[in-house]
Amino acid sequence: MNAFSKTESAYEKFGADEPFYAVLTEEKYKRKQLDQELFFGTGEELLALQMQLIQDRKIDVPRGTALDFGCGVGRLTNAMATYFDEVVGVDISSTMISNANQLKRRSNCTFQVNKRADLSVFEDDQFDFIYSDITIQHIPSPQSENYIRDFFRVLAPGGLAIFLVPDGPVLRPNSLPARLDKFYREQVRPFHKRIRGKYEVQVHRISQHRVETLIEESGGEIISVESHPRWAQRSKRYKPLYYWASKPLS
Ligand SMILES: C[S@@+](CC[C@H](N)C(=O)[O-])C[C@H]1O[C@@H](n2cnc3c(N)ncnc32)[C@H](O)[C@@H]1O
Repeated sequence: MNAFSKTESAYEKFGADEPFYAVLTEEKYKRKQLDQELFFGTGEELLALQMQLIQDRKIDVPRGTALDFGCGVGRLTNAMATYFDEVVGVDISSTMISNANQLKRRSNCTFQVNKRADLSVFEDDQFDFIYSDITIQHIPSPQSENYIRDFFRVLAPGGLAIFLVPDGPVLRPNSLPARLDKFYREQVRPFHKRIRGKYEVQVHRISQHRVETLIEESGGEIISVESHPRWAQRSKRYKPLYYWASKPLS
Protein backbone atom coordinates (compact mmCIF):
# COMPACT_ATOMS: atom_id res chain seq x y z
CA MET A 1 0.00 0.00 0.00
CA ASN A 2 1.46 3.42 -0.90
CA ALA A 3 1.60 6.40 1.48
CA PHE A 4 -1.49 8.05 -0.08
CA SER A 5 -3.62 4.90 0.37
CA LYS A 6 -2.34 4.54 3.93
CA THR A 7 -3.66 8.01 4.77
CA GLU A 8 -6.99 7.07 3.22
CA SER A 9 -7.30 3.87 5.24
CA ALA A 10 -6.16 5.56 8.48
CA TYR A 11 -8.96 8.14 8.10
CA GLU A 12 -11.54 5.52 7.14
CA LYS A 13 -10.79 3.79 10.44
CA PHE A 14 -10.35 6.95 12.49
CA GLY A 15 -13.63 8.33 11.05
CA ALA A 16 -15.50 5.21 12.13
CA ASP A 17 -14.00 5.01 15.64
CA GLU A 18 -13.26 8.54 16.82
CA PRO A 19 -14.28 11.08 14.16
CA PHE A 20 -14.09 14.21 16.36
CA TYR A 21 -10.80 13.27 17.99
CA ALA A 22 -9.46 12.57 14.49
CA VAL A 23 -10.03 16.24 13.73
CA LEU A 24 -8.93 17.83 17.01
CA THR A 25 -6.69 15.43 18.88
CA GLU A 26 -7.58 16.45 22.42
CA GLU A 27 -9.02 13.97 24.91
CA LYS A 28 -12.15 16.06 25.37
CA TYR A 29 -13.15 15.34 21.76
CA LYS A 30 -13.27 11.58 22.23
CA ARG A 31 -16.79 10.17 21.82
CA LYS A 32 -17.17 9.29 25.52
CA GLN A 33 -17.04 12.86 26.79
CA LEU A 34 -17.79 14.80 23.63
CA ASP A 35 -19.67 18.08 23.79
CA GLN A 36 -20.74 18.58 20.17
CA GLU A 37 -21.56 22.26 20.69
CA LEU A 38 -18.03 22.88 21.92
CA PHE A 39 -16.58 20.99 18.97
CA PHE A 40 -18.61 22.78 16.28
CA GLY A 41 -18.12 26.06 18.19
CA THR A 42 -14.37 25.87 17.47
CA GLY A 43 -15.18 25.87 13.73
CA GLU A 44 -17.53 28.85 14.04
CA GLU A 45 -14.89 30.78 15.99
CA LEU A 46 -12.14 30.07 13.47
CA LEU A 47 -14.31 30.99 10.48
CA ALA A 48 -15.51 34.18 12.16
CA LEU A 49 -11.86 35.15 12.66
CA GLN A 50 -10.95 34.47 9.03
CA MET A 51 -14.02 36.28 7.70
CA GLN A 52 -13.19 39.27 9.90
CA LEU A 53 -9.65 39.30 8.49
CA ILE A 54 -11.05 39.15 4.95
CA GLN A 55 -13.21 42.15 5.75
CA ASP A 56 -10.38 44.07 7.49
CA ARG A 57 -8.16 43.51 4.46
CA LYS A 58 -10.95 44.76 2.20
CA ILE A 59 -10.86 41.62 0.06
CA ASP A 60 -14.04 41.40 -1.91
CA VAL A 61 -14.93 37.69 -2.01
CA PRO A 62 -18.13 36.78 -3.88
CA ARG A 63 -20.43 34.87 -1.48
CA GLY A 64 -21.70 32.24 -3.93
CA THR A 65 -20.12 28.78 -3.67
CA ALA A 66 -17.35 27.61 -1.36
CA LEU A 67 -15.29 24.46 -0.97
CA ASP A 68 -14.03 22.97 2.30
CA PHE A 69 -11.20 20.65 1.30
CA GLY A 70 -10.68 17.79 3.80
CA CYS A 71 -13.91 18.61 5.61
CA GLY A 72 -13.93 15.72 8.10
CA VAL A 73 -17.24 15.78 10.01
CA GLY A 74 -18.05 19.27 8.69
CA ARG A 75 -16.77 21.37 11.59
CA LEU A 76 -15.77 24.20 9.21
CA THR A 77 -18.18 23.42 6.36
CA ASN A 78 -21.18 24.20 8.56
CA ALA A 79 -19.51 27.38 9.78
CA MET A 80 -18.76 28.43 6.18
CA ALA A 81 -22.43 27.97 5.31
CA THR A 82 -23.27 31.06 7.40
CA TYR A 83 -21.29 33.20 4.96
CA PHE A 84 -21.76 31.50 1.57
CA ASP A 85 -24.84 30.48 -0.45
CA GLU A 86 -23.64 26.93 -1.04
CA VAL A 87 -20.79 25.04 0.57
CA VAL A 88 -19.35 21.71 -0.56
CA GLY A 89 -17.31 19.67 1.90
CA VAL A 90 -15.07 17.08 0.29
CA ASP A 91 -13.09 14.34 2.00
CA ILE A 92 -11.22 11.16 1.10
CA SER A 93 -12.86 9.23 3.95
CA SER A 94 -16.36 7.82 3.45
CA THR A 95 -16.80 7.30 7.22
CA MET A 96 -16.04 10.99 7.79
CA ILE A 97 -18.55 11.99 5.10
CA SER A 98 -21.19 9.70 6.54
CA ASN A 99 -20.72 11.41 9.94
CA ALA A 100 -20.79 14.83 8.26
CA ASN A 101 -24.13 14.00 6.62
CA GLN A 102 -25.63 12.80 9.90
CA LEU A 103 -24.41 15.86 11.82
CA LYS A 104 -25.24 18.41 9.14
CA ARG A 105 -26.52 21.65 10.70
CA ARG A 106 -27.27 23.75 7.62
CA SER A 107 -29.27 22.93 4.53
CA ASN A 108 -26.87 24.76 2.20
CA CYS A 109 -24.02 22.30 2.91
CA THR A 110 -23.39 19.18 0.87
CA PHE A 111 -20.75 16.58 1.45
CA GLN A 112 -18.97 14.34 -0.98
CA VAL A 113 -16.33 11.63 -0.96
CA ASN A 114 -13.41 12.04 -3.35
CA LYS A 115 -10.85 9.27 -3.40
CA ARG A 116 -8.92 10.67 -6.34
CA ALA A 117 -5.54 12.29 -5.87
CA ASP A 118 -6.80 15.48 -7.51
CA LEU A 119 -9.97 17.60 -7.73
CA SER A 120 -11.06 16.45 -11.18
CA VAL A 121 -14.56 15.84 -9.74
CA PHE A 122 -14.99 19.62 -9.83
CA GLU A 123 -15.20 21.95 -12.80
CA ASP A 124 -12.88 24.83 -13.62
CA ASP A 125 -13.77 28.15 -11.94
CA GLN A 126 -16.46 26.50 -9.77
CA PHE A 127 -15.78 28.06 -6.34
CA ASP A 128 -15.61 31.63 -5.06
CA PHE A 129 -13.85 30.58 -1.88
CA ILE A 130 -11.71 27.58 -0.93
CA TYR A 131 -10.74 26.82 2.62
CA SER A 132 -8.60 23.97 3.90
CA ASP A 133 -7.41 23.57 7.46
CA ILE A 134 -5.21 20.85 9.03
CA THR A 135 -5.61 18.61 5.96
CA ILE A 136 -2.82 19.09 3.40
CA GLN A 137 -0.31 18.17 6.10
CA HIS A 138 -1.71 14.63 6.16
CA ILE A 139 -1.26 14.08 2.42
CA PRO A 140 2.10 12.90 1.05
CA SER A 141 3.68 14.47 -2.01
CA PRO A 142 3.24 14.54 -4.95
CA GLN A 143 -0.51 14.23 -4.24
CA SER A 144 -0.57 17.21 -1.84
CA GLU A 145 0.95 19.34 -4.58
CA ASN A 146 -1.68 18.17 -7.11
CA TYR A 147 -4.43 19.42 -4.81
CA ILE A 148 -2.75 22.81 -4.31
CA ARG A 149 -2.45 23.22 -8.09
CA ASP A 150 -6.06 22.17 -8.55
CA PHE A 151 -7.27 24.74 -6.00
CA PHE A 152 -6.41 27.39 -8.59
CA ARG A 153 -8.14 25.53 -11.41
CA VAL A 154 -11.44 25.15 -9.53
CA LEU A 155 -11.26 28.63 -7.97
CA ALA A 156 -13.27 31.22 -9.92
CA PRO A 157 -11.53 34.37 -11.17
CA GLY A 158 -11.84 36.91 -8.36
CA GLY A 159 -12.05 34.10 -5.79
CA LEU A 160 -9.95 33.53 -2.68
CA ALA A 161 -8.21 30.41 -1.34
CA ILE A 162 -6.93 30.06 2.23
CA PHE A 163 -5.14 26.88 3.16
CA LEU A 164 -2.79 25.62 5.83
CA VAL A 165 0.51 23.86 5.11
CA PRO A 166 3.27 23.25 7.66
CA ASP A 167 6.54 24.80 6.58
CA GLY A 168 9.61 22.63 6.05
CA PRO A 169 13.17 22.97 4.81
CA VAL A 170 13.93 23.53 1.13
CA LEU A 171 15.09 20.10 -0.07
CA ARG A 172 16.19 19.33 -3.63
CA PRO A 173 13.71 16.81 -5.12
CA ASN A 174 15.09 13.25 -4.95
CA SER A 175 18.18 14.34 -3.02
CA LEU A 176 19.24 12.12 -0.13
CA PRO A 177 17.86 14.50 2.56
CA ALA A 178 14.54 14.68 0.66
CA ARG A 179 14.31 10.88 0.43
CA LEU A 180 15.21 10.44 4.10
CA ASP A 181 12.60 12.99 5.15
CA LYS A 182 9.96 11.22 3.02
CA PHE A 183 10.88 7.83 4.45
CA TYR A 184 10.73 9.16 8.00
CA ARG A 185 7.32 10.78 7.51
CA GLU A 186 5.73 8.04 5.43
CA GLN A 187 7.16 4.99 7.20
CA VAL A 188 9.06 5.57 10.44
CA ARG A 189 6.64 7.85 12.29
CA PRO A 190 3.49 5.94 11.27
CA PHE A 191 5.19 2.68 12.33
CA HIS A 192 6.09 4.24 15.65
CA LYS A 193 2.46 5.28 16.08
CA ARG A 194 1.19 1.82 15.16
CA ILE A 195 3.33 0.04 17.77
CA ARG A 196 2.02 2.46 20.40
CA GLY A 197 -1.55 1.58 19.39
CA LYS A 198 -2.21 4.99 17.78
CA TYR A 199 -3.67 5.83 14.37
CA GLU A 200 -1.13 5.90 11.57
CA VAL A 201 -1.72 9.47 10.53
CA GLN A 202 1.20 11.01 8.61
CA VAL A 203 2.32 14.61 9.04
CA HIS A 204 4.08 16.19 6.07
CA ARG A 205 5.64 19.57 5.42
CA ILE A 206 6.27 21.64 2.28
CA SER A 207 8.70 24.53 2.21
CA GLN A 208 7.19 28.00 1.90
CA HIS A 209 9.28 28.53 -1.23
CA ARG A 210 7.77 25.42 -2.85
CA VAL A 211 4.17 26.32 -1.94
CA GLU A 212 4.63 29.84 -3.28
CA THR A 213 6.06 28.45 -6.52
CA LEU A 214 3.10 26.06 -6.86
CA ILE A 215 0.61 28.90 -6.32
CA GLU A 216 2.30 31.14 -8.86
CA GLU A 217 2.72 28.39 -11.45
CA SER A 218 -0.98 27.58 -11.08
CA GLY A 219 -2.04 31.15 -11.82
CA GLY A 220 -2.70 32.20 -8.21
CA GLU A 221 -1.64 35.51 -6.73
CA ILE A 222 -0.27 35.41 -3.18
CA ILE A 223 -1.89 37.90 -0.83
CA SER A 224 -0.20 36.86 2.38
CA VAL A 225 1.51 34.01 4.19
CA GLU A 226 1.11 33.97 7.93
CA SER A 227 1.82 31.72 10.85
CA HIS A 228 -0.93 30.05 12.80
CA PRO A 229 -1.36 32.23 15.92
CA ARG A 230 -1.53 29.31 18.36
CA TRP A 231 1.23 27.12 16.96
CA ALA A 232 3.66 29.99 16.32
CA GLN A 233 4.42 30.05 20.04
CA ARG A 234 3.85 26.40 20.86
CA SER A 235 6.22 24.41 18.73
CA LYS A 236 9.56 24.92 17.03
CA ARG A 237 9.20 21.83 14.82
CA TYR A 238 5.62 22.27 13.61
CA LYS A 239 5.27 25.58 11.79
CA PRO A 240 1.92 25.71 10.00
CA LEU A 241 1.47 28.60 7.59
CA TYR A 242 -1.79 29.93 6.22
CA TYR A 243 -1.53 30.81 2.53
CA TRP A 244 -3.93 33.43 1.25
CA ALA A 245 -4.07 33.59 -2.53
CA SER A 246 -6.53 34.85 -5.12
CA LYS A 247 -7.17 34.03 -8.74
CA PRO A 248 -6.98 37.23 -10.74
CA LEU A 249 -9.91 38.32 -12.89
CA SER A 250 -8.85 37.62 -16.45
C1 LIG B 1 -7.47 16.66 10.89
S1 LIG B 1 -8.85 16.37 9.89
C2 LIG B 1 -9.42 18.05 9.61
C3 LIG B 1 -10.90 18.15 9.24
C4 LIG B 1 -11.39 19.58 8.98
N1 LIG B 1 -10.58 20.27 8.00
C5 LIG B 1 -11.45 20.40 10.25
O1 LIG B 1 -10.51 21.18 10.49
O2 LIG B 1 -12.42 20.26 10.97
C6 LIG B 1 -8.13 15.95 8.32
C7 LIG B 1 -9.14 15.50 7.30
O3 LIG B 1 -8.48 15.44 6.02
C8 LIG B 1 -9.03 14.34 5.32
N2 LIG B 1 -8.13 13.98 4.22
C9 LIG B 1 -6.93 13.35 4.27
N3 LIG B 1 -6.45 13.16 3.03
C10 LIG B 1 -7.34 13.72 2.17
C11 LIG B 1 -7.41 13.84 0.75
N4 LIG B 1 -6.46 13.34 -0.02
N5 LIG B 1 -8.49 14.44 0.20
C12 LIG B 1 -9.47 14.92 0.99
N6 LIG B 1 -9.48 14.82 2.34
C13 LIG B 1 -8.42 14.24 2.93
C14 LIG B 1 -9.18 13.27 6.39
O4 LIG B 1 -10.03 12.23 5.99
C15 LIG B 1 -9.71 14.12 7.55
O5 LIG B 1 -11.10 14.17 7.56
